[in-house]
Amino acid sequence: MMKMLLKYIWERKEIIMLQIKNIDFSYGKLQVLWDVSLTINEGEIVGLLGANGAGKTTLLKNVSGLLCPDSGSVEFMGERIDGQPSHSIAERGISLVPEGGRVFPDMTVRENLEMGAYPTGVWKQKEDMIERVYDIFPVLKERKKQRASTLSGGERQMLAMARSIMSQPKLCMFDEMSYGLAPRIVTKVFQTIESLREQGITILLIEQNVKDTLQIADRAYVMENGKIVMDGCCQDLRESDYIRKVYLGL
Ligand SMILES: Nc1ncnc2c1ncn2[C@@H]1O[C@H](COP(=O)(O)OP(=O)(O)O)[C@@H](O)[C@H]1O
Ligand SMILES: [Mg+2]
Repeated sequence: MMKMLLKYIWERKEIIMLQIKNIDFSYGKLQVLWDVSLTINEGEIVGLLGANGAGKTTLLKNVSGLLCPDSGSVEFMGERIDGQPSHSIAERGISLVPEGGRVFPDMTVRENLEMGAYPTGVWKQKEDMIERVYDIFPVLKERKKQRASTLSGGERQMLAMARSIMSQPKLCMFDEMSYGLAPRIVTKVFQTIESLREQGITILLIEQNVKDTLQIADRAYVMENGKIVMDGCCQDLRESDYIRKVYLGL
């Protein structure tokens, strides 16, 4: 009985949500992704780390349908999605918050949230979702009638995250969310990511902020010059001599 239970728990932990297999990608003649493979299991927080120019955003765009890989494949919940238009990938439950967050500055916080429900057929549930979102991001409830342009950098980032979960995604990909935020705000944003996971959302965190990402993620991949050079559970990465020297400056 116990053995069966353990097997069940083990198998549950291993449900693959996103599988990127051997992707190459070039902008014209410039190849920027080289044989990239990456797996995200359901319920995980996975980090994709690397310096500016490593190819992180390009990889993300190959997943979200903004770019199409030259070779290799992307599978989501067991089905091929590479080459599909970005709206149909979004409808499957993959949501992307691009670098810089991008909210609609002239709309109020609430209107921005409503926009998040618009594309994916969850419009009827939007009032429920807005209440759920306000529970996770209380600051947005306080500011619901304010125009987004009046928010601080951290609040705007929260709004971008909140808008992305309005569509009830299975997987959220956040590109450089902590960039340019004060350390105290980064801590808050990362705490919020943990509460998103508790809501059942799987998360890919694209970050140059290695230290904080290794604190909250389960596993991480390290990208250099368009290649994955290292991956593992975050504890192992934190203890790796290479990571300590090159990325943590220890
Ligand atoms: N639209 C583009 N056209 C040509 N080259 C690009 C384009 N976008 C990014 N690159 C190049 O691709 C490489 C990877 O960039 P990017 O994916 O933005 O890296 P990261 O997100 O890790 O900073 C860089 O050398 C960058 O200059
Ligand atoms: Mg980038």
